[in-house]
Amino acid sequence: MIICQCNVLSCIQLKSATERLSACDPLCIVTPGAVFRACGARPQCGSCMLNVTEVIVGAMQQRQQLD
Ligand code: FES
Repeated sequence: MIICQCNVLSCIQLKSATERLSACDPLCIVTPGAVFRACGARPQCGSCMLNVTEVIVGAMQQRQQLD
């Protein structure tokens, strides 16, 4: 499912970027901006931020459950 229409970023891409960032540095705070950069994109209209944040939180919770 596409989460960011402006950059055509899917839930899977955002989740994967979140996992990569948190795997590189388990203590880092994964922000939407960092996830966009990891996807090679920049926020444009910003209307997807709430959904992007929800994907990040979900991925981080999943990671914590696995650790
Ligand atoms: S929908 Fe994501 S920046 Fe516009």
